[in-house]
Formats: sequence, structure tokens, C-alpha cells
Amino acid sequence: MTDQPSPSSIPVRLSRLFSKQFASAPRVFRAAGRVNLIGEHTDYNDGFVLPAAIDLYTWTAVAPRSDHRLQVFSENLDESAEIDLTAANPQPSDHWSDYVHGVALMLRRLGIPLRGADLAIFSDVPSGAGLSSSAALEVSVATALLAASEKSLPLVEIAKLCQRAENEFVGARVGIMDQFASCFGTADHAILLDCRSLDYQLLPLPAGVSMVICNTMVKHGHSGGEYNERRSECEEGVRLLKRYYPGIKALRDVTLAQLESQRTEVRRERIPDLIYRRCHHVISENERVLRAAEAMRKGDLATVGVGMAESHLSMKNDYQISCRELDIMVDLAQRLPGLIGARMTGGGFGGCTINLVHSAFVGDFRDDIRSAYRHATGIDAEMYVSAAGSGVTELKNNG
Ligand code: GLA
Repeated sequence: MTDQPSPSSIPVRLSRLFSKQFASAPRVFRAAGRVNLIGEHTDYNDGFVLPAAIDLYTWTAVAPRSDHRLQVFSENLDESAEIDLTAANPQPSDHWSDYVHGVALMLRRLGIPLRGADLAIFSDVPSGAGLSSSAALEVSVATALLAASEKSLPLVEIAKLCQRAENEFVGARVGIMDQFASCFGTADHAILLDCRSLDYQLLPLPAGVSMVICNTMVKHGHSGGEYNERRSECEEGVRLLKRYYPGIKALRDVTLAQLESQRTEVRRERIPDLIYRRCHHVISENERVLRAAEAMRKGDLATVGVGMAESHLSMKNDYQISCRELDIMVDLAQRLPGLIGARMTGGGFGGCTINLVHSAFVGDFRDDIRSAYRHATGIDAEMYVSAAGSGVTELKNNG
């Protein structure tokens, strides 16, 4: 990992900080951010995604309290928040603690009698960078709160309740991909996930290939806004297509041929151009995920790379979630030796690109793209060369 402190010292430091802050000894939990290799904005359309957890994490130190409060300290922000678990009509306050509050609420809605707890949180997942800092926070806090109450839940339930916290409390209508990857990440593997059934397969990342994540440093915001708008446009697409294909439940159920047959001269007005483009992205992206997964299994890296390039163009032109800096970062990568494939990753409107690069070229690739990007935009990019990390876990022996 470049541009990052060594993660091994973090739980020890966080435990010490916790003990100073709250005068007790905590347990420490850690959940990963994720990068998505391909399959963007397909999760909430019941489609397919291919993410991997990365070795950037959110750590939560926790110990139970005797009352019904959560006392939360963010080391990154040097800021505290207090949450009353018994409040009658809790409302979000557009504050980072909404994620913690939302998770606690969803746990209680599942009938889990949560105890109050002290929490100290530190994260090295950059926020607003498309690497799933929100899900890492939610999953790490959910696991910590469960432990403080001496309860447990299957991982898939943790992923789902964290998604609900974001959907129903924070107000971002995100899909399940990020929380799932943060829970189920496995070293050296990507996760091919069917977001309808939640069946998944672990695909080994090809030997000799590195994941190079380039942060454009342009921040996105997800709670509401354009993300939710895209989701509504997909729902509108399903509503219109249902007239002709009544059996469909989501864009996952529509083929490109079915979509195209609604675009003949006679039928053109049936699906407005904007909605057509949104549907076209999602339907073609699902196909690209399955093709890329098959190619990865066969070691056919050229096909993976072509799929990533097509995916980026589809997000740029049809789904319109890229931005100038992301396009520049992808264009620059495509000119460099050792590149297998490059595309923006995550929700879009800023954030990072994911580059699969032959490992022998990584050093030069990183240096060259950093300087070319600075030259083109005046911005200093951060680079993270990440292995595929593991899912949420408790760390023992925190000193
Ligand atoms: C965000 C959301 C995910 C997914 C991606 C886009 O990361 O949290 O659910 O929709 O955007 O693929």
C-alpha cells in the first residue's frame, strides 16, 4: 500500500486512545473498504458485481456501558457524538454519526436488545473517494455493537442491515455491493455477486496482476442527489418496459435485444432517450460482468481489459456518472505499459479509478500516471496499490 501508514500499529494506538478517552479496555473490530473491478450501478438493479475488499479499513474499538447511550469518538475528526438508543423519534442530522445511529437503529429493529457502548473509530479509507468508506464504517460499527451486547448475526444479515441503515436512515438508496464486500472479502479474491439471490463465488485474482487505485481527489457525495436520481431513472425504465415485458421485476431481467426492440422508429417515443441510455448501461454492464468473470477464470486478461474499457465508456456516455478528472485518469492509464484495464470505480461523480496492472510495471505505472495527472489537472493524486483484503474481523491482542 502506498501513501498509507502501516495498518498493523493502528489497533494498538486506537485501544490506547480509547482507554484514555473512556477509562476502560476495548475490543477492536475492523472492516474493509472495497474496490469494484466491474459492474457499476448494477447492484440495485438486481444485477451482478465483481468487487474485492481492499487493505484500507475502518477500525472500531468498543466497550459496553451501563446506560442506553452510545458515546462515539472519531479519531479522524477529533470529534465526539452522543446517541440515545431510547430516543422516541430519531432523525438523521447530516453528520457522520448518522451512520452509527442508523446501524444501531436497524439492529434494534431486528429485535436485538442493544446495550449502550463507548466507541472510538479510526479509518484510513478515504471518504468520498468511491472506496466505500460508509460501508466500512457501518459494518465495523455493527460488528462492534453486536459484540458489546454479546450477540451475533450471520454476516449476510449484517450486510443487509447496514444497507438498510444507509437507505432508511442516512437517505442514500445504495445497493448491497459495498456492505457485502466489506463482510465477505477474502484475501487474493474478487467476489462475483448475484445481487438478487446474494449467491456469490470467489474468483482468485490472477497471479502477477496488481490492483492500482488512483484517487482523482475529486470528492463525491452520495446521500441523495444524483445517485438516487439514477436509481429512480432505472425504476422508470422498468416501469416503461413492463408494459411490453410484464414478467420483468428489474433491469436484470431485460436483454439488450428486448431493450433495442423498443427503439424502432415506430416505438421511439415509448422510451425517452435518457431512460434508454440508463437502461442500456445497466443491461450491458451486467453482460460485461459475466464476461469478465468468465475471462478471469480462464486467465484471459485481454478480455477483462476490454470489458473494463467498455464499462468506463458506458458510465461516461450512457450513465453519465464520470467527470473530467476520471476520464483523464483513465485515458492516461490506457497509454501506459503494463496496463490490463482501467475504469472509474464506485458510485461516480469523482473518486477513484481501478487499474489492473502487470505487477512488474506497477512502480513505473504509478510514477508516470501521478506526474501525467498533475500535468493535466494540477492535482496531486493519491495511489493505493492494494491486495484483495479480508472481510470484517475482530483483532486480538491490541496491546
Ligand atoms: C455505491 C453504492 C453501491 C453501488 C455503487 C455503484 O458504492 O454504495 O451500492 O451502487 O455505488 O456501483
